[in-house]
Amino acid sequence: MMKNIKIVAVLIIFVGMVSCADKRSPQVQYMPDMYVSVPYKTDGSNGLNGTPVNSKPVAGTIPRGGHPAYDIPNTIDGYEKARTELTNPLEASEANLEKGKTTYEIYCISCHGKKGDGNGYLSQAEKFNGIPNYKDRDINAGTIYHVIMHGKNLMGSHSSQLTYNERWQVVHYVEKLRADLLK
Ligand code: HEC
Repeated sequence: MMKNIKIVAVLIIFVGMVSCADKRSPQVQYMPDMYVSVPYKTDGSNGLNGTPVNSKPVAGTIPRGGHPAYDIPNTIDGYEKARTELTNPLEASEANLEKGKTTYEIYCISCHGKKGDGNGYLSQAEKFNGIPNYKDRDINAGTIYHVIMHGKNLMGSHSSQLTYNERWQVVHYVEKLRADLLK
């Protein structure tokens, strides 16, 4: 008799535990840290040892493999400064000219034309006026780079489409086109 009562009691407790389980909320967890991790936020906003992490680079530093920001302003003085102060950091090798040509034929050819004479598709279709022949412009590596960065009148800036190296490769290529046009 006693034995039966014990079995019934155990059954009642067991059924009670199972039926009370609410499937929507988590069950009792043994050592919850193993289920619920406490990761650091990737932006470091919860800090290291309670000290917030400043995720901005230190002023004046340049990321590894990066290049200084272009700080010559989009002014007439800035244009002349670019002419005298900037030099192409890349050599005019076959490889750089070839890459410059590829980039030119993606981003510039539609206006400036295959030869740089200003006879691109958009010019022929009369969508754009005043696209110059490179041979008629008094330009050098610095001014070409400057115009890629800032644009000029109807030509928009191409700074965000081209990487640092692509820009200087295109500069070499534009100078080559111009030299060929002047022959
Ligand atoms: C949507 C048409 C268009 C595209 C695309 C374009 N340009 Fe131009 N570009 C112009 C026009 C228009 C001018 C004339 C601006 C002026 O002097 O008023 C110009 C002028 C220039 C000049 C002469 C600026 C000077 O100092 O006199 C250079 C160099 C040049 N572009 C290079 C490029 C290069 C390199 C690319 C590609 C990365 C490019 N352009 C893409 C329209 C374009």
